[in-house]
Amino acid sequence: MSLRLGDLAPDFNADTTEGPVSFHQWLGDGWGVLFSHPADFTPVCTTELGEVAKLKKAFADRGVKVLAVSVDPLDSHYEWIKDINETQNTTVNFPVIADPDQIVAELYDMIHPGADDKATVRSVFVVGPDKKIKLTLTYPASTGRNFDEILRVIDSLQLTADHKLATPVNWRPGEDCIIVPAVSDEEAAERFPEVRRIKPYLRYTPAPN
Ligand code: BEZ
Repeated sequence: MSLRLGDLAPDFNADTTEGPVSFHQWLGDGWGVLFSHPADFTPVCTTELGEVAKLKKAFADRGVKVLAVSVDPLDSHYEWIKDINETQNTTVNFPVIADPDQIVAELYDMIHPGADDKATVRSVFVVGPDKKIKLTLTYPASTGRNFDEILRVIDSLQLTADHKLATPVNWRPGEDCIIVPAVSDEEAAERFPEVRRIKPYLRYTPAPN
């Protein structure tokens, strides 16, 4: 069965390009992004993994670890990473799971036989410090993901977790946020320096620093 928001992210042990990983232990108390790509030595994946390497600091600044997975073996990953580093002008600096037995792929329902019965689709799972799934996203093999958008969602998720704030349509970091409905007007007045009340259910406040 597919995983849903709020489900516990399944734990697993896997071999990666940076050594064995026990997923929950590796996550520690922080946030994580687990993302799959269809196969090594494919063009779109090459650009994606290069971009994630460049964004490693942006993820780390948010307390987020990133972990990639595909069903290819470790020796293939190591050879492919040389190409990624060369063509994307970067150094892959995060672990890539080798999942030739499709253990992680099955656990996270990353193989969609109607699309491809062997390769993983482009799945993304954002996992919170409670090990629960906060975001799922599935892209087709031929479309590279927008990792700036994944960072934007993480910013929004962290605003909700830390400040009881939601984010409006097309929100960008720094723009005004929405006070979540569960916060009363009284609590909002105590919690936020400024509240703009358009409707009882639509209340804005500046983004916290
Ligand atoms: C890929 O790069 O993974 C890819 C590109 C086009 C179609 C399918 C996969």
